[in-house]
Amino acid sequence: MATYKAFLIFFLNFLHLSISNKIQENTTVSLSFPIKTTLLSQNLKINFLSSSKAMTKTPSSLNYKSNFKYSMALIVTLPIGTPPQDQQMVLDTGSQLSWIQCNKKKLPKIPPSTIFDPSLSSSFSVLPCNHPLCKPRIPDFTLPTSCDQNSLCHYSYFYADGTLAEGNLVKEKITFLNSQNTPPLILGCTTESRDAEGILGMNLGRFSFASQAKVQKFSYCVPSRQGKVSPSGTFYLGQNPNSHMFKYINLLTFPRSQRMPNLDPLAYTIGMVGIKIGGKKLNISEKVFRPDAGGSGQTMIDSGTQYTFLVEEAYDKVRDEIVRLVGPKLKKGYVYGQSLDMCFDAVNSIEAGRSIGDMTLEFENGIEILVNKENMLDDVGGGVHCLGIGKSEKLGIASNIIGNFHQQNLWVEFDLSNKRVGFGKVECK
Ligand SMILES: *[C@@H]1O[C@H](CO)[C@@H](O)[C@H](O)[C@H]1NC(C)=O
Ligand SMILES: *[C@@H]1O[C@H](CO)[C@@H](O)[C@H](O)[C@H]1NC(C)=O
Repeated sequence: MATYKAFLIFFLNFLHLSISNKIQENTTVSLSFPIKTTLLSQNLKINFLSSSKAMTKTPSSLNYKSNFKYSMALIVTLPIGTPPQDQQMVLDTGSQLSWIQCNKKKLPKIPPSTIFDPSLSSSFSVLPCNHPLCKPRIPDFTLPTSCDQNSLCHYSYFYADGTLAEGNLVKEKITFLNSQNTPPLILGCTTESRDAEGILGMNLGRFSFASQAKVQKFSYCVPSRQGKVSPSGTFYLGQNPNSHMFKYINLLTFPRSQRMPNLDPLAYTIGMVGIKIGGKKLNISEKVFRPDAGGSGQTMIDSGTQYTFLVEEAYDKVRDEIVRLVGPKLKKGYVYGQSLDMCFDAVNSIEAGRSIGDMTLEFENGIEILVNKENMLDDVGGGVHCLGIGKSEKLGIASNIIGNFHQQNLWVEFDLSNKRVGFGKVECK
């Protein structure tokens, strides 16, 4: 058994906000991305892996297949605890801390079965305040933590709309049906939140579910939402039998010396090179899709963000082209979710889609995400259809983010062992 001795130096402190941003009654935009909050001392050194039993047990590699529900987010159901209690969690490649819903007060909209009851699980334990992860500013999650009256580690998780989720850090096993289980993993057990689902944090951080459970790779296929209510997609932990047809792109990694204030080093960053609309390559410099000296402009692929957001220089070129193609049909002055401002009345939407044509997001290694003209616009309700692309700056984001709307009918594999992302075109069933 390996003894871990890790002295880790963190330059940056990221606060992950998975944002359910309720802009209007009908307008829900889900976003998931880290926001830089404070700069930690460069000399902060932490050595706690050697004292953490959870990290020294290496399970044989995990293979698991399940379906998920797709409605703005990818909602997986995982069997947690002993005996397992099925928990609904949003699969989020943009965040680290996983948390489950432990709210005993049943909110009317939450069916009781989705709430985790720790008292029914023999493998549940709480994280005491003296655990190295319970520091006022834990460098990995950077969620404000504190010691509560019961000497338990309490955390708070903020949402952009001013609400927050809070609870205790705990350890719990995930017990898969085929009797594979993980060692106890560090999770949040949320007692105050208005969300129905928990979060399955899958980013590159050491305390994401993927890292703690030593998942070698995972993949999903986001189904087409066209005309369907919450269709079902497929999720694999471990091997995906379709991977022989995937094309891979290496993750861009950033040495610590290169870490910059606006960069999220734990995101899945890939090299985007351009955008084509209706077969025409837009005049956008590749540099716009790469982090600049301050870290702005990285392009991340994220399951937890609904739409695609582009930095101004790229976004403006997309908008110019849309205006050129279908300007007169655009809904003037209409903005959905603070950021999507290329919208059409439903009556115009099919024709607008046809006039715009297909869109291609181009990446290194000849990889393309092709968005068919039929899937260019999303029905946002109220008889309005919008192009699923917004300007990052409108939401205070410095990155380009490829959201799940533009990952429909595609296998996306996050191959952690080989530090690459695979894509395979498919009709998701
Ligand atoms: C491409 O964009 C750059 C910068 O926006 C501009 O200077 C240049 O003239 C453009 N080229 C063409 C062919 O439009
Ligand atoms: C919400 O959307 C429905 C149809 O989707 C519409 O009838 C209703 O007026 C909308 N409400 C608001 C507050 O926009």
